[in-house]
Amino acid sequence: MATGEPNRDQMLAALAWQAELGATEAIAETPQDRFVESAPKPAAAAAAAPSKAPAIARGQEDPTRAMPDARPGRDQPVAAAQSTGSTTALAAQASTLDELAQTMRVWDGTPLRETARNFVFSDGVPGARLMVVGEAPGADEDRIGRPFVGRAGQLLDRMLAAIDIARSAPAPENAAYIANILPWRPPGNRTPTEAEAQMFLPFMTRHIELAKPDLIFAVGNTSVKALLATKTGIKRLRGTWTPHPDLGIPVLPSFHPAYLLRQPADKRLAWQDLLSLRAALNEGAPL
Ligand code: URA
Repeated sequence: MATGEPNRDQMLAALAWQAELGATEAIAETPQDRFVESAPKPAAAAAAAPSKAPAIARGQEDPTRAMPDARPGRDQPVAAAQSTGSTTALAAQASTLDELAQTMRVWDGTPLRETARNFVFSDGVPGARLMVVGEAPGADEDRIGRPFVGRAGQLLDRMLAAIDIARSAPAPENAAYIANILPWRPPGNRTPTEAEAQMFLPFMTRHIELAKPDLIFAVGNTSVKALLATKTGIKRLRGTWTPHPDLGIPVLPSFHPAYLLRQPADKRLAWQDLLSLRAALNEGAPL
């Protein structure tokens, strides 16, 4: 029978169980010691004790925080006036990809910035004819700071290689430029909410304008719904070339490689999309 304090193995097992459930991020503003919370308190002390630590408003200094935030990939937040401006106005101010990356990196209008480790902007060759737009960084991308480097990213590389495209190819016609709708990983790898995708969409529109691709390969529901301003799901839209609503650039919706890892039978349809992409690169998109 288990009695008293949990031992090391029990604590490790509890931790592994939480990680398996997806609770991999500490998302509270202040640390909470659950052991202290669950310890019996003398009645008088309990009555006098505050029920929890005072909330700290976003942007307000946390006096309990001993160390400055030195995690890689993040600079100090932009001034409040800038951070409260709309993402459309902020994005419009960027006239190069580097400027856009810097604006997005320091923009503190999203709590995702607090839980992610690294800002993930793009990979591949800026100026490539093909731009791939995914959903959001996962755990591997968050750790490394580059999009599509985990298992789904490796499958994406193999898919592109099958039509003679590589993210590092020197020639723009064989290269790809890769980015995500969200540059920060949602905690626990959850799917981005529609509100999050909408918030970052003006940044993505500007990103596309500055990267100047001829064609866009939009993978997965989040990317397709945001880019094409539609509520129609990927199963209906995949394989259909559609002009970007603001920029007119041809967009090919397709399955997300992470989905294809779970549903390999649909690789057959993804292959049709890749052939359509190759044909559009060779001959122009059928719009
Ligand atoms: N899934 C995405 O949509 N983007 C990544 O960068 C990684 C996984």
